[in-house]
Amino acid sequence: MSEPGKTKFQIDLRRHLREQEVDDNLIHLICEIAEASKYIIHSIRTGDLGVAGTSNLYGEQQLALDVLADRILRKRLDHSRVVANMMSEEMDEIIPISPDCDGKYSVAFDPLDGSSLVDVNLAVGTIVSIFEGCDLLQPGNNQVAAMYILYGPRTTLVYSVGNGVHEFGMNNLMEYTLLQENIRIEPSGNLYSPGGQRNKYTPGTEAFVTHLEERGVKLRYSGGFVPDINQVLLKGKGIFFYPHLNDLPKGKLRLLFELNPMAYLIEQAGGAASNGHKRILDLQPEEIHQRAPVFIGCKEDVKLAEEFIAKME
Ligand code: AHG
Ligand code: MN
Ligand code: MN
Ligand code: MN
Repeated sequence: MSEPGKTKFQIDLRRHLREQEVDDNLIHLICEIAEASKYIIHSIRTGDLGVAGTSNLYGEQQLALDVLADRILRKRLDHSRVVANMMSEEMDEIIPISPDCDGKYSVAFDPLDGSSLVDVNLAVGTIVSIFEGCDLLQPGNNQVAAMYILYGPRTTLVYSVGNGVHEFGMNNLMEYTLLQENIRIEPSGNLYSPGGQRNKYTPGTEAFVTHLEERGVKLRYSGGFVPDINQVLLKGKGIFFYPHLNDLPKGKLRLLFELNPMAYLIEQAGGAASNGHKRILDLQPEEIHQRAPVFIGCKEDVKLAEEFIAKME
C-alpha cells in the first residue's frame, strides 16, 4: 500500500485512506474526527476535572470534559458538510445536520469514554461509528467505518473502513502516521478484562470466569473501554466482557457508540463480539441509547462464553 519515496511508516492517515480508494467525503469525515482529537487532548490536559452540573440521559453525572469533548466533536461534524445526522452519549436525541442523505454520513460517538478516569490519570478515549446516509438505527453490520482514539501515554488512532484494522500514532507534529496495518487477533487468548461486579454475575458468566481462572488466564482491567479493548487488539489475544448482571440484565455499555464500533474493529481483526447469545453487529437497535451485554475478543473465547451461558441460563 506504500507510495514510492515514502516509507510505509511515514504514511499519514489521509494518504492511507486514499490508497484504499475510500470515498472522499468519508476520508474528509475521518480526518476531521482525527483533527478534533487534538482539541480533546488539549482539553484533557488543561480542562476542568470537575462536574458540569448536568447529567446525561443515562443519569450519569456529566463531567465538564464530557461536555467539552462532545462540543468539540459536534462542532467539527456540524461544519464538515458531509454529516446527515449525529448522536452521542451526551446528547438526548439525534441531531439532524442535513436533510439530504446523498453522499453524506451519520455518526454515533462517545466523545470521552472513561471520563471518570481522567482525574486519576488513567487512559481514556473517543469512539466513533459511521454509517452511510441518514439512518443511525441500523444493525452495526452496516457500518462503513469505525474508529477510536486512545489518549494514553501515547495518542493512537485505530480505524477500519472494512479492509482490515490499522493503528496510527500521533507524532511530534501532531500528525497521525501509520504504526501497523491489518492487525490480527489469535483464536484464543491468555488475558481477560471482566467488567461489572463478580458478585452480580449470572451463573453462565460465573462458570466462564472460573474456567478462565483455572486456565491461568491473566486479569487485565483498567475500567476504560478503549484501553481495555486496545489491549486485546494489540496483544492479539484476550477477551473483554461487560456482561448482563443480576441487577443489570442489559449490561452497561451502549450499542450505538460503544459496542457497534468496537465489534466492527475486533471482527475486522478476526475476533468476535457477542451479547452472550447473538453477534453484536446483527443486533437491530430499537432506540438510540440502547445498552447490551458484551463479550468481545478472541473468537474461541467468545464462543466459550456463549456456550457456558447457553448451558447454564
Ligand atoms: P463512559 O465514560 O463513556 O460513560 O464509559 C464508561 C464505561 C466504559 O469506559 C467502561 O468499560 C465501563 O464504563 C466501566 O464500567 P465500571 O466502572 O462499572 O467497571
Ligand atoms: Mn459517560
Ligand atoms: Mn463510554
Ligand atoms: Mn463517554
